[in-house]
Amino acid sequence: MYRYLCWLLTILSVKHYTFSIPTVPSNWWQYPYPYDVLSLAESQEKLQNENLIDSYTESTEQSYGQRRLRNCLDPKIGRLGRKVRYGCSKRRNKSRRLDGLCNDFENPASGSLYYRFGRNVPLNATVRDEKNLYNPNPRDISRTLMKRKNFIPVTIVNILVTGWVQFMTTDWFDSGKNDRSRHFKVPIRDDDPDFYDTMEIPMTRQDSCGNSKDYDTYQNTVTHWWDASQLYGISKQINRRIRTRKDGKLKLTSNNRLPIDPSNGVPITGSSLNWWVGLGIFHIIWTREHNYVCNMLKERNPTWNDEMLYNTGRLIIAAVIAKIHTLEWTTAILQNDVAKLGLKSNWYGITPIEIARGNATLAAWLIKQFPQFSNGVLGAVGNPKNIRGVPYSLTQDFIAAYRLHPLLPDEFEVRSHQTDILVKRYDMKDAVFEKAESVFEENSMEDLIYTFGNDYPGAMTLHNYPNFLRNLDIPATSLRGKGNVDMATIDILRDRERGMPRYNAFRRLFHMTPINKFEDLTTNPTHAEELRHMYNNDVELIDFLIGSLAESPLPEGFGFSDTFFRIFTIMARRRLESDRFFTDDYTSEYYTQWGIDYIDDTYMKDILLRHYPSLASHLQQNVANVFIPWKSQTSLDKNFPYPLY
Ligand code: HEM
Repeated sequence: MYRYLCWLLTILSVKHYTFSIPTVPSNWWQYPYPYDVLSLAESQEKLQNENLIDSYTESTEQSYGQRRLRNCLDPKIGRLGRKVRYGCSKRRNKSRRLDGLCNDFENPASGSLYYRFGRNVPLNATVRDEKNLYNPNPRDISRTLMKRKNFIPVTIVNILVTGWVQFMTTDWFDSGKNDRSRHFKVPIRDDDPDFYDTMEIPMTRQDSCGNSKDYDTYQNTVTHWWDASQLYGISKQINRRIRTRKDGKLKLTSNNRLPIDPSNGVPITGSSLNWWVGLGIFHIIWTREHNYVCNMLKERNPTWNDEMLYNTGRLIIAAVIAKIHTLEWTTAILQNDVAKLGLKSNWYGITPIEIARGNATLAAWLIKQFPQFSNGVLGAVGNPKNIRGVPYSLTQDFIAAYRLHPLLPDEFEVRSHQTDILVKRYDMKDAVFEKAESVFEENSMEDLIYTFGNDYPGAMTLHNYPNFLRNLDIPATSLRGKGNVDMATIDILRDRERGMPRYNAFRRLFHMTPINKFEDLTTNPTHAEELRHMYNNDVELIDFLIGSLAESPLPEGFGFSDTFFRIFTIMARRRLESDRFFTDDYTSEYYTQWGIDYIDDTYMKDILLRHYPSLASHLQQNVANVFIPWKSQTSLDKNFPYPLY
């Protein structure tokens, strides 16, 4: 078949047939190779050209003086009145700042703390639809379409995937403490088993800078950069608490865990938001790895002081985390050859012969037909910075695509890594916030990592939202403040509140084919019927999250929807190529040569084995990717591109 296709393509090109790439096709994954690759590349380019929308473009009616008083950020100047721009010299900013300023010298505030989220759709499409805020009622959606009856596992990945992705999102974005002076009031039905009368949900905190009348804007309360701020914090106050001030290291207890904050019972780290065991595992591992990197740097640079070791260690840790996310986490949850090629192209780049999967005839044909591929695709890392004309920020759409709560289980069973015997069973509600610490007390890290390395997370589909999150007690000590909430209701309402277009509108704005009927969305007739009923037979009303959870079939090997994936195709590369520390300044001068080599050579498995060597019997050569259930990786996968063990 493959040889036939190559032959066919060659004949077609010789006979000068016009065989152009379909313009941003809806289902790239249904085209034969190499048209799937080409159409996805075309789609990514179109999105990069048209869907990076700056939310600082409005002409504000407020005067400069008023905006200065309100702590407004201007992409070009930084905080108004403070002239950050002039403090942004390369000499003074050789490492990542806690506030994220001065990464892009032309736009010193971009990507920093309190910089606004951008958008991936035009601003005029992001106006909140007040009239339909409760249509359909989000709690009804939670009860009818999201409630988990039986746990539906996703078997291509393990639960480490769930903890890891939250570890990532808490680095990238946080919409901050809600505004408790303004509430949504979601009507509750009489037969509701958990809530009564109305569910009061505080609104998202307002943009402290105000904005134009035409659309709402929101600020990030952490830095937008991939800078490991979840470990290092975003303020001097947090940073002071986590550092030992000796040899660049971070604080750990004598048994290599994180110190606990007595005021709330959760560990002291950069961000302990929505803490649970799966998230805690990665904070502990990466704090240990930071200290290991500092040891290595000190050995090679004995005269360096605490600050130099810490700053260089942070640069290196942020980069190796970004690499592991790009080449390991994402290729585990998207086990698809085309997606893997794209991910490799984001980090290292790909050659025409790689695009042609080693077939020289096909590579020659590709270059002839599509000269833009003659150099392949350059990797973002180590190449010149490219902000594509739009100062860097993450986007509201990006947040919406990471509402991956169904990945969480409702319970888990810890098993011994030595004997595989059941040690203890936990309900998730007893493993979150301050209760997570007792799970660490009662079990070894090795047993927890082994358990999560083999257990399945929940599938990103309808009827699979964790029930503990649908009736979640947030303790008073939490950063968000006390509350009894249904996160499924909140996930739906937040997208509506923040002007996220509904599913079909979003597809149009993302150059994807819209659906005409419920059966276009899903091949599951029961789901189609349930959706029709909930959305009053109107496909335009389907919420972005619900449409994405309902999508079926998915591209081969995908752990979430193609619609989510499209947002990642535009933003995954952007996070790397806009950041000078991954591009212009990804050099041995900044990282040291040891650091650059370490980033290239280190994969998640190396880090697990370094700190937990007794896992070695489970992490044999067959386990190429630690985010795929370990026991399922029974043979060496020769086609698996990364990591190369
Ligand atoms: C036990 C684990 C978790 C708990 C208790 C939890 C709880 C919460 C809470 C309370 C919020 C804020 C709700 C609001 O807007 O008022 C939130 C937001 C969010 N969560 Fe989770 N979550 C957990 C795990 C996860 C995981 C695994 C992911 C996967 C990526 C995730 C992704 C998000 C996202 C994207 C938001 C929106 C953030 C924003 O608006 O800036 N969460 N979660």
